[in-house]
Amino acid sequence: MSFGQYRFEPLGRHHDRAAFSCGVDELDQYLQRRARQDMARNVAAVFVLHDVSESKVAGFYTLSATAIRLSELPDDLVRRLPRYPNLPAVLLGRLAVDTNYRGQRLGEMLLMDALERSLLSSQQIAALAVVVDAKDDAAVGFYLRYGFQPVVDDPRRMFLPMQTTADTLTSSP
Ligand SMILES: CC(C)(COP(=O)(O)OP(=O)(O)OC[C@H]1O[C@@H](n2cnc3c(N)ncnc32)[C@H](O)[C@@H]1OP(=O)(O)O)[C@@H](O)C(=O)NCCC(=O)NCCS
Repeated sequence: MSFGQYRFEPLGRHHDRAAFSCGVDELDQYLQRRARQDMARNVAAVFVLHDVSESKVAGFYTLSATAIRLSELPDDLVRRLPRYPNLPAVLLGRLAVDTNYRGQRLGEMLLMDALERSLLSSQQIAALAVVVDAKDDAAVGFYLRYGFQPVVDDPRRMFLPMQTTADTLTSSP
């Protein structure tokens, strides 16, 4: 998908990972040192938002298959689910925007692209929800803004039911 100067692309050799800086060292190091290996080993799918006009990585996110425990989900949802101890989900493992590109709705674009991919893949391989492990309170605030809710007993681990994903996608500008 492309938006003006931006294109979503699977992370490749040609992307300038070294210049990426989002202010969270762990995320910068991940993109620079581990992301390509995770892709090669089928541990994570890594997508970058490529600023084609500047040849820069404006942001990135990762998706992987995961499981969510039934005990992590709120009662109103559990009532409608089978009593399997673990249920399938998509893990949005990392998401970050370079500091030079903040406040331009690129974080939202990354999240919407990740949700769209998750929704599409769940039509082939079922997943009940998209799960994130927010790094800090600021990240929690960002995900709350888009309808994610904390799992039971862990305010930093959050989920968005796949049924709600379609609504979030249609309500974002
Ligand atoms: C969180 C992050 C991705 C936001 O990126 P961004 O491109 O600056 O955000 P956007 O411009 O797309 O913001 C979209 C909306 O989210 C809001 N928002 C952005 N960051 C927010 C935060 N930390 N808390 C609450 N809301 C936030 C914006 O105010 C905007 O809301 P509005 O529609 O009311 O104006 C970015 O700050 C980042 O990469 N942070 C470091 C890494 C990180 O924390 N990643 C989170 C997952 S671990």
